[in-house]
Amino acid sequence: MRIVLLGAPGAGKGTQCKRIVAKYGVVHLSSGDILRQERAAGTELGKKAQSYMDSGGLVPDNLIVEMMVGAINKASQKGFVLDGFPRTVNQAAELDKLLGRNGKKIDAVLNLEINEQVVVKRMSGRRSCSKCGAVYHIENLKPKTDGICDHDGTKLVQRPDDNPDVVTNRLKTYHQQTRPVVDYYKNNNAVCNINANEDADKVSTLMFKKLDALVLA
Ligand code: AP5
Repeated sequence: MRIVLLGAPGAGKGTQCKRIVAKYGVVHLSSGDILRQERAAGTELGKKAQSYMDSGGLVPDNLIVEMMVGAINKASQKGFVLDGFPRTVNQAAELDKLLGRNGKKIDAVLNLEINEQVVVKRMSGRRSCSKCGAVYHIENLKPKTDGICDHDGTKLVQRPDDNPDVVTNRLKTYHQQTRPVVDYYKNNNAVCNINANEDADKVSTLMFKKLDALVLA
């Protein structure tokens, strides 16, 4: 199964992708996570991406497409769930071209719909593990011990781009450049809108219902 998960920054894409992976055994490909790993490793790509990420803008399409084509080609035959990619109409068209060359296509596009006030609250309370990437929230999805990752005991950190000024820019970028991707897919595939304002378990239930229908089809 090849899935695209769309949604504004902080809509819960990463949180829900981990649950999709656990249920359907697909590979999670997060462009944001890959970029953060490149930055941490000090690669050329990581250095080039840094200023765009820190300001809440988008990393140029050519860099992202090359990076994601590599990741998709490496993904197992079991399929994948894309998180944070495609983020422009151009990226979506490049993805279609890549899959088309191999006689494949995207099977499901899930669009997490969320109110902006909820997004701001989620991002200000997000804490992540710099070692394993697990994501928590200080109120909604708490770790067992405050500030410590459940999986490996690492101290949780706040993402630098979750500061309020950068969040404002990320939302602006989303409306200008990423929201049109929803319309792109509406014209090419069936887009399933999911109410992402609900708690994480309820969102998963809504999503799984749509995906189960596809698996059984
Ligand atoms: P990226 O890492 O992709 O960031 P994003 O899209 O802004 O998404 P987030 O990771 O902030 O949020 P999320 O939707 O995954 O929410 P989460 O599950 O963590 O990209 C970062 C940057 O990299 C971009 O700004 C850009 O510069 C660059 N980039 C990446 N991809 C690119 C591309 N394709 N092209 C160009 N540039 C690119 O949840 C958020 C919080 O809410 C957490 O604390 C979580 O615990 C909590 N939560 C989640 N769900 C719920 C729920 N239902 N109820 C209550 N709390 C919840």
